[in-house]
Amino acid sequence: MAAIVKIVAFALLAQLCFSAKWDDSYSDRISQLPGQPQVSFQHYSGYVSVDHKEERERQIERALFYYFVEAETDPASKPLVLWLNGGPGCSSLGVGAFSENGPFRPSGNGLVKNEYSWNREANILYLESPIGVGFSYASNSSSYEGVNDKITALDNLVFLQNWFLKFPQYKDRNLYITGESYAGHYIPQLAELMLQFNKKQKIFNLRGIALGNPVLEFATDFNSRAEFFWSHGLISDTTYAMFTSRCNYSRYVSEYYRDSLSPICSKVMSLVTTETSKFVDKYDVTLDVCISSVLSQSKLLAPQQVTETIDVCVEDETVNYLNRKDVQKALHARLVGLNRWLVCSNILDYELLDLEIPTINVVGRIIEAGIPVLVYSGDQDSVIPLTGSRKLVHRLARLLKLRTTTPYRVWFAGMQVGGWTQVYGNILSFATIRGASHEAPFSQPERSLVLFKAFLQGMPLPQEF
Ligand SMILES: *[C@@H]1O[C@H](CO)[C@@H](O)[C@H](O)[C@H]1NC(C)=O
Ligand SMILES: *[C@@H]1O[C@H](CO)[C@@H](O)[C@H](O)[C@H]1NC(C)=O
Repeated sequence: MAAIVKIVAFALLAQLCFSAKWDDSYSDRISQLPGQPQVSFQHYSGYVSVDHKEERERQIERALFYYFVEAETDPASKPLVLWLNGGPGCSSLGVGAFSENGPFRPSGNGLVKNEYSWNREANILYLESPIGVGFSYASNSSSYEGVNDKITALDNLVFLQNWFLKFPQYKDRNLYITGESYAGHYIPQLAELMLQFNKKQKIFNLRGIALGNPVLEFATDFNSRAEFFWSHGLISDTTYAMFTSRCNYSRYVSEYYRDSLSPICSKVMSLVTTETSKFVDKYDVTLDVCISSVLSQSKLLAPQQVTETIDVCVEDETVNYLNRKDVQKALHARLVGLNRWLVCSNILDYELLDLEIPTINVVGRIIEAGIPVLVYSGDQDSVIPLTGSRKLVHRLARLLKLRTTTPYRVWFAGMQVGGWTQVYGNILSFATIRGASHEAPFSQPERSLVLFKAFLQGMPLPQEF
């Protein structure tokens, strides 16, 4: 009898260990990244399956790679924040975590600590999405074809559901979604899916979304570029006139992605490209060029620059670091069907015309569901300029009949003006980050952290010096 009990107990234990091995975060814990300074917080990385039943039956495996950084102090009392970079097809690990707001930045043979890491305020989950980006993979490469906004949103939702199986302690935690650029599509679409899902079974404790230099309405966002170039002295008066009346940027991109470039658009863009010069970083018109080559988020957001940008930083430190075998081993990462980890995927075949789907109305529905939204703009970015975002937010506030609760004013960080802000109905906020690029936390880390903290706390941006 005792023997049988023992065997049963052993079997149970074995089962527990087995499931623990798969569902637990334990095996994803990073003991130490090569060259990493000592830190007091835990970090994790690994894969979460997002394949559905029909795919499993056909033995197709699809898995998304994540890097999760717990808060520097008292993680149990801090919210969970999902961070997404754009592209579509660029890596939240390489751009977000290792160049923008993560705890470390590559330097020389190792890593240095980022003093303004966002994990000072929250537990941050960086997700390489969609499939085909960074270390995320599909076992059959046909899965990389025709990936679109819909598939991405659903995969991201399934990812988070399954990630909660590994990290059940975060399931009921206050959840925020943040990101930039094309994440202006990913984030509202994911948030709306969560709200729909919650009606059946409440599992996403969504408390707010923040969108940095986001694509929200393609024509307004893209056509702000002409004025930005012109007012910053990057193009001449005559080119400005042509870029606004003969062929504007949204028309150019539209034609470009339909393989039907008209002679006039070709001509105008050629003038614009020559005058703005390939030696100016379009993601921050005041920054020197080297940095942009790696941080550049998109083939998509600036199609004409892809082939023309001289990549003077080809040996960029993040790319080198993430391609080291010892680093990949420490991250529990694999390269499936690829030789190298890339900042922006070259195997993903994204439905680029989805760019033209407006998401500003999705943002409106999220606000109507009571979820606070922050749109912020690095004010030196010409790719998604602040003027377009500000116009879209203002228009949305009017549509939703939200009155101004904080009139346009400066906010402070580090005893300097951090930017300007305006709030509508205490739920929809707009803020600029002064002197910041498209990747705001990269070029203005302190100001970005102040903004992030205020956003999480639902507090007004510092009004006092
Ligand atoms: C990959 O998927 C395609 C389309 O579903 C299929 O035709 C092909 O046989 C699959 N390849 C492998 C290696 O399973
Ligand atoms: C951009 O060009 C399109 C097509 O010519 C036109 O319909 C649209 O009004 C233009 N937008 C702006 C802001 O000039």
